[in-house]
Amino acid sequence: MSGKGPIGIFDSGYGGLTVMREIVSLLPGYDYLYLGDNARAPYGNRSFETVYRYTLEAVSWFFDRGCPLVILACNTASAKALRSIQQRDLPRIDPTRRVLGVIRPTAEVIGGYTRTGTIGILGTRGTVDSDSYPMEIRKFSPHLRVFQQACPMWVPLVENREHLRSGADYFVRDCLHKLLQQSDAIDTILLACTHFPLLMGKIASFLPEGIQVVSQGDIVARSLRDYLFRHPEMEVRIGRGILSGDRAFHTTDDPGLFDALAGMFYGSPVCSEQANLSSKP
Ligand code: DGL
Repeated sequence: MSGKGPIGIFDSGYGGLTVMREIVSLLPGYDYLYLGDNARAPYGNRSFETVYRYTLEAVSWFFDRGCPLVILACNTASAKALRSIQQRDLPRIDPTRRVLGVIRPTAEVIGGYTRTGTIGILGTRGTVDSDSYPMEIRKFSPHLRVFQQACPMWVPLVENREHLRSGADYFVRDCLHKLLQQSDAIDTILLACTHFPLLMGKIASFLPEGIQVVSQGDIVARSLRDYLFRHPEMEVRIGRGILSGDRAFHTTDDPGLFDALAGMFYGSPVCSEQANLSSKP
């Protein structure tokens, strides 16, 4: 278990590529293995039990490929599966490996962005209904007021490449309106879904002045850098230049389909291979 391996980055599909893009840009020296469970995406409206089972299968897949550290770059998986995997499964499977999510690192710093102490969270229905963000944020910034709004249409808009067209305006305005009517003190909006940074321009254009929009890719990347600095015993286990090309991409669906859309999320072309997940653990 002490051999070196890549950092695993998991998402239900394409969205984690927006997080991986920031991680790779901040920490280019490490090897990375990406897995998108496109065959079973989206996770956003699925039950706790299903998201947990799918995510655990993915984590086992990464472990089988030697990853000492796996990042759940999916808010829905972080909200619905991470805690159980950390507390119930890791001690049994391999207590020396780590699985980290995107909610805690974001919750740790989001209080530093707001002047009014009032933030809005936009996410999938699963992330919002789990209440994970308000609960995590309370641990670090108990004084913050947190309001949430689910945006179930935004992921399909992005995945159908409709997000920049005028037809998307209605859905973007509608969710922003529903969020902002909950409190007129909101001055910071967190995009708590991997797909939403692709809507950043449209979101910003519909907001009143003085409200900032925060996406979490760079927050997660900086948190990972700090984590590896604080955990040299993990840092030495991360491979550098072992994988050919240093980054490998896998999807549970058809690689050709994946590659056609993945570049839009990753910012450069992606060439993937197919992965088969089995429900072993
Ligand atoms: N990656 C998911 C998230 O960040 C969005 C896509 C999905 O619903 O599967 O919540």
